Amino acid sequence: MDRIRIKGGRPLSGDILIGGAKNAALPLMAAGLLTEERLELGNVPRLADIDTMAALLAQHGIAVEPDGRTLRLGGRITNSVAPYDIVRKMRASVLVLGPLLARVGEARVSLPGGCAIGTRPVDLHLKGLEQMGAAIRLDAGYIHASAPERLRGATIVFPFVSVGATENLMMAATLADGETVLVNAAREPEIGDLAACLTAMGARIEGIGTDRLTIQGVDRLHGARHAILPDRIETGTYACAAAITGGSVRLVGARLEYLGAVARVLRDAGVEIEEQPDALVVRRLNGLHGTDAMTEPYPGFPTDMQAQFMALMAVAEGAAMVTETIFENRFMHVPELNRMGARINVHGASAIVRGVAGLSGAPVMATDLRASVSLVLAGLAARGETVVNRVYHLDRGYESVERKLAACGADITREAG
Ligand code: EPZ
Repeated sequence: MDRIRIKGGRPLSGDILIGGAKNAALPLMAAGLLTEERLELGNVPRLADIDTMAALLAQHGIAVEPDGRTLRLGGRITNSVAPYDIVRKMRASVLVLGPLLARVGEARVSLPGGCAIGTRPVDLHLKGLEQMGAAIRLDAGYIHASAPERLRGATIVFPFVSVGATENLMMAATLADGETVLVNAAREPEIGDLAACLTAMGARIEGIGTDRLTIQGVDRLHGARHAILPDRIETGTYACAAAITGGSVRLVGARLEYLGAVARVLRDAGVEIEEQPDALVVRRLNGLHGTDAMTEPYPGFPTDMQAQFMALMAVAEGAAMVTETIFENRFMHVPELNRMGARINVHGASAIVRGVAGLSGAPVMATDLRASVSLVLAGLAARGETVVNRVYHLDRGYESVERKLAACGADITREAG
């Protein structure tokens, strides 16, 4: 297994190109199941998860042809089974469920199971599809779903915000008979991007960007071209890299509007963020000060930025309270950061971070995508050498992280393990 070796203490300086959003690309690829015509997606990031979704679609009969950062999807659905050996690698595979039911009236999708950060159930996806007329049965670790009659529109009220359930049910509703209303829908920018692409494919969706989506089902969707929005989590991650090293980095392609609460919290902590026409310049000239953050659905502080922000607060002056409200086990970066000299205490869903003057490099273990990158950030700031093991987690969500950081002056290399 590959590992990343970092010698810390160098302020970053230079440009970093921000790629297309992983968490938009994955549902957008699943939308390729909704039409036999060609769907062309631009600005697709080169990530392990994208390859996994492409493999999943291919075994459904949807060919995925790469052309640089463009993916062309097209084909007829020949198989409605999403097998365990693919789904277990990537939970977002469950996003084929709604499109398969809408197109061919049946689907057998492996239950995604839990992952490092939580049990990650899909009950909201299944209950919503049942309300739309699907028959759902769980057997031998698989979801057996059928809708011999066409799915029918329904009013679905989510008891709490779910990104994936909103995406699955919005896609299913585009081809259902009648009107579907999703109440308490997720409002993440990736949902808006998916809705924009579905609309380009002929779907009829109102309320995009709000927590109430109204979808009028149509008989069929046609092909379209869609460029994926920039990745706000990659943006926030590299903003933290600039801040934790006391550097100045230009994030090319980043858009302030998608950063939501991340920009506010970083500015409160003493990070400067300057908006340019096609970039954000992030710099930290003076000290960092401890600032509280609580993860919430968009437009709140994103859970996918919690680990990165905690690494930053580990070297701030004063204390910060970081509260995780979305996932039940998303503090696995804490013991690793503490091994580097951080002073973080976890009490239930909250962690108190007492800033220290500096961290010291150490061999550390990556456990999940965002925890991995928080260890890279800590390594960039630490005295001495840090080795981050199991970087396959990183490759799921960050394209060429060591190359992008090295281009800004970081002493960082990847070693085959
Ligand atoms: C998406 O996961 C993202 N993944 C996650 O990013 C992100 O952390 C999460 O949204 C929250 O923003 C993709 O978009 C591919 P949820 P998702 O449904 O859809 C519970 C990353 O690092 N829940 O909004 O799975 C769930 O357990 C990844 O890029 C149910 O109980 O998240 C969680 O506690 C990690 N039942 C909460 O809701 C359900 O049916 C929010 O989950 C669905 C979810």
